[in-house]
Amino acid sequence: MAEPTKQSGKTISGYGLGGVDTVMSVDDVAREAEGLSADTPTLEQLSALTPGDPYLSIDGLVAGYGKMEIIHEFDLRVGAGQSLCLIGPNGAGKSTILHSIYGFTNITDGAVSVEGRDVTSFNPNRKLKDAGIAYILQDNSVFPDMTVEENLLMGGFLMKESAEAQAATERVFEKYDRLAQRRNQRAGVLSGGERRLLEISRALVMNPKVLLVDEPSIGLEPRFIDMVFEILEDLQKSEGKTIIMVEQNAKKGLEFSDIGYVLVSGRLALAGKGDELLDNPDVGRLFLGG
Ligand SMILES: Nc1ncnc2c1ncn2[C@@H]1O[C@H](COP(=O)(O)OP(=O)(O)OP(=O)(O)O)[C@@H](O)[C@H]1O
Ligand SMILES: [Mg+2]
Repeated sequence: MAEPTKQSGKTISGYGLGGVDTVMSVDDVAREAEGLSADTPTLEQLSALTPGDPYLSIDGLVAGYGKMEIIHEFDLRVGAGQSLCLIGPNGAGKSTILHSIYGFTNITDGAVSVEGRDVTSFNPNRKLKDAGIAYILQDNSVFPDMTVEENLLMGGFLMKESAEAQAATERVFEKYDRLAQRRNQRAGVLSGGERRLLEISRALVMNPKVLLVDEPSIGLEPRFIDMVFEILEDLQKSEGKTIIMVEQNAKKGLEFSDIGYVLVSGRLALAGKGDELLDNPDVGRLFLGG
């Protein structure tokens, strides 16, 4: 394990949460994180983190954009109704894994399976409609000039009947009064937290089983961050959704999740229960600001 970097007499450690002068540079984190990946977790270790058969699995995934390979032989196991959080340095390929599950990348080897069915080659629409996988955030923001209701109806664009989308939209309004009160307002006037709620709810219109959530806390004030994690917790605990999330706020993400994976340079470096990784000193030093 490398010693914390010393700079101008101060010990510098941690990532992302502290003030500027107490945070390791992105390059330092990436360099030191490389040292974590000596022993890639085995499939047995990954399986031990999920009770019973996995709901979604990834086996030997090799994926990237065009000819550029970003993800190298990556495996993942998550059980029905479990939550898994991917953390790791900027550029490690966390979003690319979500993109690969959803069908946005060039997959050259390996497989994504849902309940044992190979869905690797499904395009995003089929992933949502047929495999029950929804992708939320980062590249998927709301339409600011449309109303809240119109935004939700867009979430049902794959439904045959508009009445179906309308019914699903009403179910969202029944669940989230905050949105119901603003159904006829332009989405552009929503607060950051309400907007995030709309982004999540729009994905719920198709009643997916798996939610891929990229950086749910990004750009939100602390009180809204807590709200978003409460919403996700309710979706997992009350509705049995399986959640795979990427979270730069590693503390929040690992506290929330049953399972944590650390990704470094497109490879799995560490895997464990969320609370075990929270207590892992390397994870603390590199990703938790401590
Ligand atoms: N659409 C794209 N086309 C080409 N290269 C891409 C594309 N998206 C990402 N990349 C590259 O893939 C690598 C991994 O990016 P990715 O977005 O998956 O990282 P990340 O772990 O999510 O990082 P961050 O924490 O900054 O969000 C980076 O080198 C990035 O430049
Ligand atoms: Mg990302």
